[in-house]
Amino acid sequence: MINESRIVLNNGVSIPQVGLGVFQNPDGETTVNAVREALSVGYRHIDTARIYGNESSVGEGLRQSGVARRDVFVTTKLWNEDIRQERTREAFLESLDRLGLDYVDMYLIHWPADHWQRAWEEMAGLYEEHRIRAIGVSNFQPHHLRELMTISSVLPAVDQIESSPLFANNETISFARSRHIDVEAWSPLGGTGGSLLSDPHLLALAAKYGKSPAQIVIRWHIQRGVIVIPKSTHAERIRENIDVADFALSSEDMAAIDSMETGTRVGADPDHFDF
Ligand code: A2P
Repeated sequence: MINESRIVLNNGVSIPQVGLGVFQNPDGETTVNAVREALSVGYRHIDTARIYGNESSVGEGLRQSGVARRDVFVTTKLWNEDIRQERTREAFLESLDRLGLDYVDMYLIHWPADHWQRAWEEMAGLYEEHRIRAIGVSNFQPHHLRELMTISSVLPAVDQIESSPLFANNETISFARSRHIDVEAWSPLGGTGGSLLSDPHLLALAAKYGKSPAQIVIRWHIQRGVIVIPKSTHAERIRENIDVADFALSSEDMAAIDSMETGTRVGADPDHFDF
């Protein structure tokens, strides 16, 4: 069993630093198997969302794994339509129902859609009712975080944002950290169909450390103190992605990966999204 590193969030709740992402995983066997496989090789953190359409399979994988519910950190997210229609509580209860759980460890505002301020108030209420162990946001820019802190005394535990060596998102990371908000990276490996993992610089580092390019990138995230949720549906990759505790990148190699920055996102810009 792999011994994972954990991060203590600003409300005292601890989260495994590497989790399994399930974005774009279809509902059904693929997701059930990915979750079960992940839990069997030592993952204790699964990150899903209403819009991924696979919450039922995440719950099923969790039950089939035999791992105790309390030992697994489960995140799901409030979708934009539910934010706009101000149906946070209903949407949350529907997610719980699909997951087959009576609480989640983390609930996130998925995007800063119109009326997210109202959603945050509702989420703070659910948090106070102990239905959620930590609440946070996703795709919030510094100006969204600043606004949130003016309207609420409940600080988000995390901001989950796009971050990879090709788009590190350092400005948002620095801002969040200065407010004691932890950062989670989505598309940490550069996203599906991306070119990051075949980059020659990364291949050279992989050869140097005797690791795969994905392991090098995940290690880079860990050493920056970022929570990372690589997605894979392949058992071998799922295993590989958490097997990163037995080596450390030198500061020169961390800097070399930093210099892969392109300034270009693979996902939507939180200030201009149309979904
Ligand atoms: P697959 O699910 O077919 O394994 P991100 O987490 O940045 O969104 O990237 C996920 C993409 O990287 C997916 O296309 C996933 O494909 C692929 N991937 C995940 N882990 C690895 C790995 N260890 N080696 C190569 N590709 C990987």
